[in-house]
Amino acid sequence: MIAVLIGGKEAVTENNIMLLEYPSNFILEKSKAMGGNPTDWKHVEYSVGPHKSIVGCDVSGEIVSMGQHVDTTEFHIGDYDFSFAHGTCLRKPDNGTFADYVALDSELTFKLPKNTEFSNNDVISEGKVISFEEAASIPLSWFTAGGALFHEMKLKYDCDAKKPQNKFPLFVWGGGSALGQAVIQLAKKYHGYTKIISVAGRKHEKQLFAYGADEVFGYHESDVITQNKNKYNNTQQLFYCVSTLDTL
Ligand SMILES: NC(=O)c1ccc[n+]([C@@H]2O[C@H](COP(=O)([O-])OP(=O)(O)OC[C@H]3O[C@@H](n4cnc5c(N)ncnc54)[C@H](OP(=O)(O)O)[C@@H]3O)[C@@H](O)[C@H]2O)c1
Repeated sequence: MIAVLIGGKEAVTENNIMLLEYPSNFILEKSKAMGGNPTDWKHVEYSVGPHKSIVGCDVSGEIVSMGQHVDTTEFHIGDYDFSFAHGTCLRKPDNGTFADYVALDSELTFKLPKNTEFSNNDVISEGKVISFEEAASIPLSWFTAGGALFHEMKLKYDCDAKKPQNKFPLFVWGGGSALGQAVIQLAKKYHGYTKIISVAGRKHEKQLFAYGADEVFGYHESDVITQNKNKYNNTQQLFYCVSTLDTL
């Protein structure tokens, strides 16, 4: 197969990569669309990933083969689906999504309708996910947000909670990012906090309110930290969703 690998300080394309072996609860997927994330270039540029490891985390595509422990009432050869892999990983350097084929954990894979097609648009449109490109833009940021909120920050899976699960606000720096948008929506749906406060570009404000933010501070405003501190002095949990040169 063809794959994008770490080759020194660059991403390089190589042919004739061997198809990987995968665990019995995994699906082998023929990739149709891949999503790019900051982790991809960071692993290449900063030599975080091993030499010759395959790059890429997000993917949508078609099932071509399945391990013997995959739930066959749920998944079938030829189904369309989307998920993520841990690209440029030390333990599994031969599995990343920037490749013809990728192995996906069936427990973390979501099915797409049979009529899913390529959008072939440069920009992903808002609304229902109907294309392979749109599906490939979702998994990693949502799993990262969910892992952090429900595992690290110990929220419960209770979307009917009548009272906020925590008696303090959640602070999301970078609410306009892919990660920040997912964090805000999940924190809101599971009624995790008394308020959801975000620092983001003002152009994202309307959308973030619709997702569940209670207040948005503009990150371009020079006194943004003072504004925050003056209004909210009991911040106990902060989600930092931005890369700047200082915080990479
Ligand atoms: N995406 C993922 O799945 C994922 C997973 C794990 C970790 N991360 C990490 O999370 C960070 C964000 O990744 P992403 O993929 O979500 O990024 P992204 O979608 O490319 O978002 C970048 C956003 O950051 C905003 N921004 C830039 N500087 C800011 C600042 N100083 N304050 C507030 N907002 C600022 C930009 O706002 P404007 O549009 O207003 O310019 C833009 O909306 C990265 O460090 C990444 O490594 C991401």
